[in-house]
Amino acid sequence: MLAYVETIGCQMNVYDTERIQNALKSIGYTITTDLEGADIIVFNSCAIREKAQQKTYSFLGRLSALKAKKTSLIVVLAGCVAQQDGARVRNRLPVVDIVMGTHAIGSLPQMVTDIRESKRTSVVNVDFSNDISQFEAFATVPQKVEPSRFVTIMQGCDNFCTYCVVPYVRSHEISRSPENIMTEIKSVIEAGGKEITLLGQNVNSYGKKEGFPNFTELLYQISQLKGLERIRFTTSHPKDLSEELISAFGSNPKLCGHIHLPVQSGSSAVLHRMNRHYTRDEYLDKVIKLRQVNPNIAITTDIIVGFPGETNEDFLETVSLLEEVRYDSLFAFMYSDRQGAPARLFPEKISDFIKKERIHSVLKTQERITLEKLSLLVGTCQSVLIEGESPRLADGISDAKEDQYMGRTNCNRIVHVAYTKNSVRKGALIPVYIERAFSHSLYGRLSDQS
Ligand code: 5AD
Ligand code: SF4
Repeated sequence: MLAYVETIGCQMNVYDTERIQNALKSIGYTITTDLEGADIIVFNSCAIREKAQQKTYSFLGRLSALKAKKTSLIVVLAGCVAQQDGARVRNRLPVVDIVMGTHAIGSLPQMVTDIRESKRTSVVNVDFSNDISQFEAFATVPQKVEPSRFVTIMQGCDNFCTYCVVPYVRSHEISRSPENIMTEIKSVIEAGGKEITLLGQNVNSYGKKEGFPNFTELLYQISQLKGLERIRFTTSHPKDLSEELISAFGSNPKLCGHIHLPVQSGSSAVLHRMNRHYTRDEYLDKVIKLRQVNPNIAITTDIIVGFPGETNEDFLETVSLLEEVRYDSLFAFMYSDRQGAPARLFPEKISDFIKKERIHSVLKTQERITLEKLSLLVGTCQSVLIEGESPRLADGISDAKEDQYMGRTNCNRIVHVAYTKNSVRKGALIPVYIERAFSHSLYGRLSDQS
């Protein structure tokens, strides 16, 4: 029996997809990349923006024809759209047999078995659970060597930014115990993992409710594990970024020099209406402190343009913030209304035309800064963890005949590495001499120092 699982959205969904695959394997399925040949199709969805939700419904819509040909096909909608729309999914798209919310992966084998044995014709499971074991069911036990892996340390969010649907589709913050996290990371290391990225919507509040050691202490414990070379984490809410965590960037050698610190807007007035609990100056203060501790730290961010009521002056403050911080890269989004998120009811909506103009301006500004920052690395030697072969040649390297590998520097910059010696292989941590900079990546060769 074959199972096809498609994922969109954040890293947490990527991690959950592995759990979904493990759950299906436990009842006899083999994972396939052939949609047409599959006996069960799972779509792990994202609801963060309107576009992602549209993608979900258009994918599912296309499955009706497949199901007409193969009536035994089981279709599962998983993830945040499932959680948000619940039973309404089946009214809109009867092709879906199972609607499985963000807290229900542990029950997937039973739901599939019930459908297969015709005990039920459809299942909708969007209950929220406060039982952490629900999030640990079928947690990743890697079978093949992957140099870099995600490990979820907490789920949910208690912040209620006014534009965001996450607190409604992932519910309250809940943290895994340090013991279970350590066990999972050990199994990652045993399988050849060298780098882990700890995942949570707001890692700074890890373990607060449960009375676990705080996030910086957890980082310290993890960094003691032999064989693990690099630790990353995402995402960190600027309001909760503590002095203690900032100082870890200077004192914990395994903690990589990169932080994703979503600012969303450069205008304090907009930040207030977004319910972000920091001002522009308070944010800038954290950036200064991070750079005091590690002058080379890479800082990346998320920007929303066209939040309700965002004036041209507000927007120009965002652009000036980009110039002031000089991020290494960013993700920019046009604001979209989300079901249940309070900003949906805010007045003074911004037109699509202005949103497009603003996002274009943000991206253009950042493109220049990214290239300037990447160019500064030409001529330096960077430690690169090779993740695998390059899916495509580095842009602009038309004369490169040799195979290329792809990896990341400590600061998370993508490097295409020319294959010259056996030491350039998946999982190797090698010194690379950077020869060229492109718009989003670097190109280099194994350094002679090796
Ligand atoms: N509209 C546009 N962007 C959004 N994000 C979250 N909600 C919305 C929304 N309603 C963006 C934020 C967040 C990132 C994951 O998605 O920038 O940091
Ligand atoms: Fe959404 Fe804000 Fe929570 Fe991030 S911190 S998940 S933007 S509510």
